[in-house]
Amino acid sequence: MAMNAARAVGVDIGGTGIKGALVDLQAGALLSERVKVATPAGAEPDDVLEAVRTVLETLGVTDADVPLGVAFPAIVRNGRTMSAANVADTWIGFEAEKFFEDGLGREIHFANDADVAGVAEVRYGAARGVGGLVILTTLGTGIGTAMLHNGILIPNSELGHLQRAEKTSDVEAWAAYSAMEREDLTWVKWAKRLQWYYSHLEFLLSPDLFIVGGGVSKHSEEFLPLLELKTPIVPAVHRNNAGIIGAAALSARVSAGDA
Ligand code: BGC
Repeated sequence: MAMNAARAVGVDIGGTGIKGALVDLQAGALLSERVKVATPAGAEPDDVLEAVRTVLETLGVTDADVPLGVAFPAIVRNGRTMSAANVADTWIGFEAEKFFEDGLGREIHFANDADVAGVAEVRYGAARGVGGLVILTTLGTGIGTAMLHNGILIPNSELGHLQRAEKTSDVEAWAAYSAMEREDLTWVKWAKRLQWYYSHLEFLLSPDLFIVGGGVSKHSEEFLPLLELKTPIVPAVHRNNAGIIGAAALSARVSAGDA
């Protein structure tokens, strides 16, 4: 297979936006501008595929000899999406990887969005060389999580869907960045929710490091200092690009045949 493993394209499909870029796999850095389009309302498969096409065409990377990784905000098992928190229910049990491969006419590597962000931070960021348990959380439309033990990903953790005993909604509906925006919370009020969430994760899982990703991680100085935890908590080095970089990194590894 004529794959150039020095660079790959990453596309990160989120509940609100679909972002993509060409990535330098040695440096773990973007080689192109970051292209972003809105996630189509309802996020049905055909519309999402069309939006991914637009991203690839805008980037000018439609030929199949550059590896392509696609990240998606759902549980991904054997190429199938198995949940749909912020996208259409059609994705539940859907052969998503094959759908994108057929639609784009090329091979892709397909995985959960938070998991690929975790991989990016292990290879090129805040989790590099960190032993023990690292939990990366993305605070965006939902809350995504990646669990990494001694640098190895434990895929498909869904710790944004923890339930608070006294409430009916998942924690992500209450503590994701979208909740802060929707309810117009101050940093202090939002941080109180995050305090509950991270303390709970800390109690359940005894991690060695928390990494905070998602778009809001660029404002981490507004809320991370407000949290009182035993576990160190740091922003993702690659901020909201971790998903793009991780998706690209995984695609090239697979393409090179050493996954
Ligand atoms: C989904 C996760 C995803 C996260 C962030 C959650 O609602 O269940 O699979 O990683 O949102 O997009």
